[in-house]
Formats: sequence, C-alpha cells, structure tokens
Amino acid sequence: MFSFLWEGHAVASCLSLTFMLLLHILDECMSESHQAEIRCPERCFCSESVDFGLVVRCSDMNLIVVPHGLPNTTRYLYLDNNLLLTIPSDSFIGLPLLFKLDLSHNRLVHLEPGAFRDQVDSLSSLDLSFNLLETLDPEAFGELRAQTNLSHNPWLCDCHLQLAMPQLLLDPSFLAEVVCNTSEPEELGAQGLPFILVATDLDFCAALQRTTDVAMLITMFGWFTMVISYLVYYVRHNQEDAIRHLEYLKSLPNRQGRSVESLTRSTWL
Ligand SMILES: *[C@@H]1O[C@H](CO)[C@@H](O)[C@H](O)[C@H]1NC(C)=O
Ligand SMILES: *[C@@H]1O[C@H](CO)[C@@H](O)[C@H](O)[C@H]1NC(C)=O
Ligand SMILES: *[C@@H]1O[C@H](CO)[C@@H](O)[C@H](O)[C@H]1NC(C)=O
Repeated sequence: MFSFLWEGHAVASCLSLTFMLLLHILDECMSESHQAEIRCPERCFCSESVDFGLVVRCSDMNLIVVPHGLPNTTRYLYLDNNLLLTIPSDSFIGLPLLFKLDLSHNRLVHLEPGAFRDQVDSLSSLDLSFNLLETLDPEAFGELRAQTNLSHNPWLCDCHLQLAMPQLLLDPSFLAEVVCNTSEPEELGAQGLPFILVATDLDFCAALQRTTDVAMLITMFGWFTMVISYLVYYVRHNQEDAIRHLEYLKSLPNRQGRSVESLTRSTWL
C-alpha cells in the first residue's frame, strides 16, 4: 500500500516534470518567435514562408528608403505602395535568398548601378510597375534574369533606351510592357506603343543622328556666316584705313616740303 502510494507519487511527479518540460519547450519556442519579431524591421510584418525563409511585408507605410535590418532569410519582400524615389546600389545586400521583390506603386525615377547586385542568383520576380521610370540602366540590372514587370511607367523611347535594351538579360516578354509615353525625336510617333514593337521598324539613334546632323549644319552655317561677315568688315575697314593712310602719305611730302620751307625761311631771317 505504501509502496503503491509512493509509486503513484513518483508517476505524478514524473508527469508534472514532463508537463514542466513541455511548458519550458513551448516557452523557448515563444521566445524564439519573439526574437524573430524583433529582427523584423520596424512596422513591417514578418512571417514564415511555406518554403524556407521569411515573408516580409512593408507595404503602404510611406517609406522613403528601403528599411534597414531586413532579416537575412527574407525570401519575399513587399515594399509596394510606398514613396521610394530611387534604389541605391546594394540596397538588398545580405539577402542571398531574396526570391520575390515587389517595388510597385512607388515613385521610382532611378535605379542605381548594382541595385540588385546581391540577388543575381536568387531573384526570380521583380515588380517595378506603376513607378516613374523613364529609362532603363543596364548597369542597374547587371546579370539579373528575373521576370520583371515594367508596365505603367512613363517610358521615354529614345536612342539611349534602344542601346540599353539588348544589354538586358531580363525576360523579353516583360520588355513588351515598356510602352512609350514620350519619344525622342518626338516625330517618330512612338507614343502609346510598346518600345519593342516600335524599335523593329524605327531606328531612334539614326533619327537622332539626322536631327543632330541638321543642327550641326545650321550651327556650322551660322559660324561660317559670322566669319565671312567679319572678314568682309575687316577688309572694308582696312581698306578705308589703307586709303586714309595712303592719303596721309601722299600729303606727307607736301607738308614736309612746307615745313622745310618754313625752316629755311626761319634760318634766313
Ligand atoms: C543569417 O545570419 C546568421 C548569423 O547572423 C547566419 O548564421 C546564417 O547562416 C545567415 N543565413 C543566411 C541565409 O545567410
Ligand atoms: C504587370 O503588372 C501589371 C499591373 O499590376 C499587370 O496588369 C500585368 O499583368 C503584370 N504583367 C505581368 C506579365 O505579370
Ligand atoms: C507622359 O507624357 C506627357 C507629355 O507627352 C506628360 O505630360 C505626362 O506627364 C507623361 N506622363 C507621365 C506619367 O509622366
């Protein structure tokens, strides 16, 4: 009876020990997830993704810069609907797992060279739609091969863009979303058309060359006219001078004679 009670006590304490251990493990887990929350940038929301890594949501927060201290296991990063103007070089450095990046609905006018340098191997989807991009800098994309949404930007279709396009390794089907808002030269009438479509028929650089040629010709003609009129003026002016000089010279012997006369007269007197 006593030993049975003792055994019962042992079982109970064993159970309570197990319970406490469970609680402790649970507590550990809680504090770990708490730590993960602390590592999440201020005001952003971080959660585990289904595949290994984190989903970090910093959408619609009036951000003007990419937040600091993004967890190095970030796999999905949502920075859409903010006020970002530019993406500086190495903005996403230390995020080797970044797979999807949403930068849509910002005010991006510029992507600096090397902006996605650290994501060349990992990034598969980049959303740049609904921004203020006018041109593409191949240096900003580097070797990036991500599917890149470039729609709804006020693209300026010109020689620069024509030269940049072939250097981009981005998915060509997405380059079809580069719809011209303006073109340079404007007369090419590319407005409202996808750049890729327009560029098959038109050569923006040759057109630019033609306009610069005409401008050069006009400038040269202007200079030529100026030089000629200066020469004419110079010759005329000198001619007058020469005539005046000649007349002076002609009058010289007379005057000299007169002065000699007066001199001799004065010595006579
Ligand atoms: C993230 O950083 C920790 C150290 O802070 C390191 O142990 C871990 O390997 C890093 N993870 C990746 C994916 O780089
Ligand atoms: C790019 O984004 C726009 C706007 O969100 C969307 O309509 C379009 O389908 C996207 N393009 C691709 C190829 O996903
Ligand atoms: C598109 O171009 C027109 C001028 O052609 C300009 O007024 C307008 O602001 C441009 N759109 C954007 C979104 O910049």
